[in-house]
Amino acid sequence: MSRVLFPGTFDPVTLGHLDVIESALALVDEVVVGVGVNAAKSRLFTAEERIEVLREVTADLPGVSVVGFSGLLTELCVEQGAAAIVKGLRSSADFDYELPMAHMNAALTGVRTLFVPTSPRLSFLSSSLVKEVASLGGDVSTMVPDVVLARLTARLAERAR
Ligand code: PNS
Repeated sequence: MSRVLFPGTFDPVTLGHLDVIESALALVDEVVVGVGVNAAKSRLFTAEERIEVLREVTADLPGVSVVGFSGLLTELCVEQGAAAIVKGLRSSADFDYELPMAHMNAALTGVRTLFVPTSPRLSFLSSSLVKEVASLGGDVSTMVPDVVLARLTARLAERAR
């Protein structure tokens, strides 16, 4: 039985994230999605909301579980018995950003990071861009799951009031 950990902030989860989860599931039995709940940064969605939505959009994917975490990623790996960390790569910029973290995590506990290229059709997506475009009235319906689109629209409307 192989289990990997896919960490992120997921504010909100996009179809790019789901693509990485599905790619990982084709290779391993279980994917634990680790939702960073560090309160230091301001988010559009609370930790509870991000976890709830991720559970909803991965409910049909066997072998996926979702947990919140606030400490070191490597500690979560040990706690969850994850054999490796999975990160999606959209571009070489992601690789440059991720490589030092992969080495740091390996130096801490020996855990290795597996890089999964995202589908080219989704490689421009990021949660930040989705939020920016949606907040300015752009159509992001092909970029996020329906449940996220509904929550995004509602939250942005609340904020605009
Ligand atoms: O979706 P993001 O914002 O790129 O996710 C970042 C995340 C949560 C994966 C990263 O901030 C993280 O690993 N946080 C845990 C704290 C930690 O272990 N830091 C050292 C990383 S080398």
